[in-house]
Amino acid sequence: MTEPFLIGDNMTGGYGRGPDILHNCTIAVNPGEIAVIVGPNGAGKSTAMKATFGMLNVRSGSVRLDGEDITNLSPQERVIKGMGFVPQVRNIFPSMTVEENLEMGAYIRTDDFRSTIEQIYDLFPILRDKRNQAAGELSGGQRQQVAVGRALMTQPKVLLLDEPTAGVSPVVMDELFDRIIEVSRTGIPILMVEQNAKQALEIADRAYVLVQGANAHTGTGKELLADPEVRRSFLGG
Ligand SMILES: Nc1ncnc2c1ncn2[C@@H]1O[C@H](COP(=O)(O)OP(=O)(O)OP(=O)(O)O)[C@@H](O)[C@H]1O
Ligand SMILES: [Mg+2]
Repeated sequence: MTEPFLIGDNMTGGYGRGPDILHNCTIAVNPGEIAVIVGPNGAGKSTAMKATFGMLNVRSGSVRLDGEDITNLSPQERVIKGMGFVPQVRNIFPSMTVEENLEMGAYIRTDDFRSTIEQIYDLFPILRDKRNQAAGELSGGQRQQVAVGRALMTQPKVLLLDEPTAGVSPVVMDELFDRIIEVSRTGIPILMVEQNAKQALEIADRAYVLVQGANAHTGTGKELLADPEVRRSFLGG
């Protein structure tokens, strides 16, 4: 087993002084891959993402990026190391324009980021059309594009997405998945939580089912789709 590019390894921990939410939970992703985390509501998927991004302290376990132990780094320090994160909620500034949201995403950069904005407009052309509109006025799918675009502004080496297709129609979900696949083909590994389990497993190179803060099933997306227990418990048969 070689070391994954990004791994939250054997993470145990919870919020503040509260009980442990994660129990020896491991999630990882490698270059060229889309890794997907699925599981029931409250399973700890977002908590595992936040722990990997440094938004809560793990009591045991570690997080490593490109072979470096980053367990004790702040989220901001992890962004500087190359992590991009799109949280499940409050992932845009609704009263700011689309373009201002992208500019905010570049907050750690001191170089000229104009060409990155153009790359994001090429990836999500609708955002170019709506660049001067308040992000809060956009549709759900368009707001998610703003959120992903904002995270791409730091030119991350790995992208963490928590439910990027939440609240969008099946057609828009397919479009967002296509864009996410496109981002992964540019060489950015993607670790994402998805509530559309079946569709997400279909595009997953690596997949995790989390239950009650622990790894319940791990495999390729295809393997989990074919696993009778996963099908029965999580995919509706
Ligand atoms: N900020 C917080 N402080 C305390 N407990 C929290 C906090 N956020 C989540 N929890 C608790 O942690 C557990 C896991 O929640 P989490 O949000 O990680 O689940 P999830 O798998 O992402 O669920 P969903 O599918 O609804 O997004 C739940 O019991 C939840 O109540
Ligand atoms: Mg969640």
